[in-house]
Amino acid sequence: NHKPVIFSGMQPSSDSLHLGNYIGALTQWVQMQDSFDAYFCVVNQHAITVPQDPAELAARTRRTAAQYIAAGIDPARSTLFVQSHVPAHTQLAWVLNTITGFGEAGRMTQFKDKSLRYGSDATSVGLFTYPVLMAADILLYQADVVPVGEDQRQHIELTRDLATRFNSRFGETFVVPEAQIQKGTAKIYDLQSPEAKMSKSAESEAGLIKVLDPANVTRKKIMRAVTDADGEIRYDHEGKPGVSNLLTIYSVLTGRMIESIEREFEGRGYGDLKKGLAEVVEETFSPIRARTEELLSDPAELDRLLSGAADRANEVATATLDRVYDAMGL
Ligand code: ADP
Ligand code: NA
Repeated sequence: NHKPVIFSGMQPSSDSLHLGNYIGALTQWVQMQDSFDAYFCVVNQHAITVPQDPAELAARTRRTAAQYIAAGIDPARSTLFVQSHVPAHTQLAWVLNTITGFGEAGRMTQFKDKSLRYGSDATSVGLFTYPVLMAADILLYQADVVPVGEDQRQHIELTRDLATRFNSRFGETFVVPEAQIQKGTAKIYDLQSPEAKMSKSAESEAGLIKVLDPANVTRKKIMRAVTDADGEIRYDHEGKPGVSNLLTIYSVLTGRMIESIEREFEGRGYGDLKKGLAEVVEETFSPIRARTEELLSDPAELDRLLSGAADRANEVATATLDRVYDAMGL
């Protein structure tokens, strides 16, 4: 009665998750933890591949973990742990570095994009080998499935290539994981520029709804969301991206069909829709915020949860690494 294994990671690179992370990732993971043996990793070693502030990184690592628990990841059922607590990640990454082609790594588009942003002198070798560390993250747990966004497809392909290559050179060692690209899940757009996806990397935070923001900050952002001049509350992704985004969020958070929301607001103004949406968002996030604060107010208890999870993760990861070392003559 062995459940399939899923692995997924998130960088502790902001103080608060945003609505896109919540809808596009977190709610899926919470649902998946029943049917899978789930590993959710706060990948803090990925976060140091770009300039970072140590005190901030430590705080964000705890805050990220706390938000996941607050949103429903159950630390008793899922292994929610911090990457640097499990040394096998970097140990396996080194091994995988030695079977990765330089050109192969150089073709990763995310590296090309990021290195352009930072310039070649500020771009670390760590950023270059980031996808190899990501492969190690996944392969250590013999993951069957990796739920990721479309932007990670190429990295999962590399992971599969490395697993297959290792298996054929050194003997069957790794499960070759499948990507589960989350296409069906709603994509959430920036409230100020609804043609761009909501992202922590947006230039301005005016269109970004953060899980941990106070209710009045979020309400203001929603009330100021960009709409259109036509005045009708109707879903039309191309013609009315702003209003459609508001309807999508309303629908996902309440579990109601968009048509039923359109009917409820028929003949009323955008202001009413926004007020209603602000309430829905607040109902969703206020318990998550409260629970996050509670968890963060007792860092010893949070550290105890994370350390218990690290023990479980270490056990599985070390067993895989042992097999790898044996296979390679290390
Ligand atoms: P960001 O774009 O803010 O940097 P990440 O790349 O860290 O977000 O994504 C973390 C997770 O959240 C991924 O699974 C991603 O697919 C999901 N996600 C991020 N932004 C959105 C969005 N606007 N709509 C839906 N899902 C999103
Ligand atoms: Na991103």
